[in-house]
Amino acid sequence: MPDKSDSKATLIIEGGPTLELPIHQGTIGPDVIDISQLTPNGRFTFDPGFVSTASCESQITFIDGGKGVLLHRGYPIEQLAKHSSHLETCYLLIYGELPTKAQKADFEYTISRHTMVHEQLSTFYSGFRRDAHPMAILCGVVGALSAFYHDSLDISDEKHREIAAFRLIAKMPTLAAMSYKFSIGQPFMYPRNDLSYAENFLFMMFGNPCEDYQVNPVLARAMDRIFLLHADHEQNASTSAVRLTGSSGANPFACIAAGIAALWGPSHGGANEAVLEMLEEIGDESRIDEFVAKAKNKNDPFRLMGFGHRVYKNFDPRAKVMKETADEVLKELGLENDPLLKIAKRLEAIALEDDYFVQKKLYPNVDFYSGIILKAIGIPTSMFTVIFAVGRTVGWIAHWHEMHSAPYKIGRPRQLYTGHPSRDYQSIDKR
Ligand code: CMC
Repeated sequence: MPDKSDSKATLIIEGGPTLELPIHQGTIGPDVIDISQLTPNGRFTFDPGFVSTASCESQITFIDGGKGVLLHRGYPIEQLAKHSSHLETCYLLIYGELPTKAQKADFEYTISRHTMVHEQLSTFYSGFRRDAHPMAILCGVVGALSAFYHDSLDISDEKHREIAAFRLIAKMPTLAAMSYKFSIGQPFMYPRNDLSYAENFLFMMFGNPCEDYQVNPVLARAMDRIFLLHADHEQNASTSAVRLTGSSGANPFACIAAGIAALWGPSHGGANEAVLEMLEEIGDESRIDEFVAKAKNKNDPFRLMGFGHRVYKNFDPRAKVMKETADEVLKELGLENDPLLKIAKRLEAIALEDDYFVQKKLYPNVDFYSGIILKAIGIPTSMFTVIFAVGRTVGWIAHWHEMHSAPYKIGRPRQLYTGHPSRDYQSIDKR
């Protein structure tokens, strides 16, 4: 990584050494001060939530949150959403370049040949309660893949890593749709390899063995965009979880299961589900003001779900594309007057004008609109985060692969200890 040879950061530690810290320069984005020589000098930095810490060097995704920019391998997300497909973007994220025609066809063929899961894996599902959350099922079955595909577990072998990537990208929609089918008591649908990635997912979700299911092309395009727009987002909580898990040498399926677990929370991937729950709780346009007031009240933990972002302090560029897709889907399905969607639109308008939200730069994020689209398509709320996980799988894999392609250290953050100093054990009668 290139250093800024003309400047260094000088750290003066009172009563300690003065350190000249190198400054690294990325291709774009802010300069990064290298603090790795602090530890040999007996000091750590304190940065809760890693808000000021670059945990790794990466060439996959760049975000400028202030300007609302998101680039994958240098390509703006808006251009990818308009001209590319999810699978082509998967290729780009993993291999670093857009594929040629032949490479694209070959990649799509390979992915379509890995969509089936080991038949025995389907018996895992019957071990879950019917009302289990599909994310709980997904964490379990994805982790369990490591018990089935022993020929792609050698992380030092690039070929193994590649096959694991194919398997995960290909099998996630199948596993996700199986979670849904299990919850409603319908038979699992085998994947159809003549369909595109998104079409096949909709087919496995909504098809049944008793009748023909025709995939609506507008909905398939919207589904593909949802996958594509969630494909990667640099070092977010779940991707960092995947890297951290992978840094111990854990197998790829276990690492992705860790990513799924981290994604589940409402501050991350669970937000799209939380948006719909919030809209249902609001229930009527007349109650919007009450909820906006709650969100602004410092003493109330309630937040407007689908608003705000750790990195974007401007409109989330994915949200712009998602909004357009939401309009297309609602028009196609004749749902422009759906009461819940009306609440969503009103909420969006208020938040974009309200001083509190404007000053804190709390714009609608990608999950605000993806929840609306998924609901319109007929996908149950509990499946929303699962769909985020299907899209994000490639990002996790690309980062995991990047980490293993160069020397890396096991992730091991330090802490500021504020507990008891050393003390002697007290026998129970003296406590
Ligand atoms: N509603 C009301 N107030 C909010 C909201 C919100 N949605 N988000 C942030 N704030 C306030 C917050 O109370 C704080 O106010 P103050 O400075 O007076 O204490 C200020 O804005 C900054 O918030 P923060 O929690 O310090 O910001 P953060 O960067 O740590 O959190 C966030 C980012 C996404 C966790 C947060 O905005 C949030 O909880 N949003 C709702 C959940 C959500 O939609 N999450 C999806 C994120 S996009 C999908 C993904 O990439 O995973």
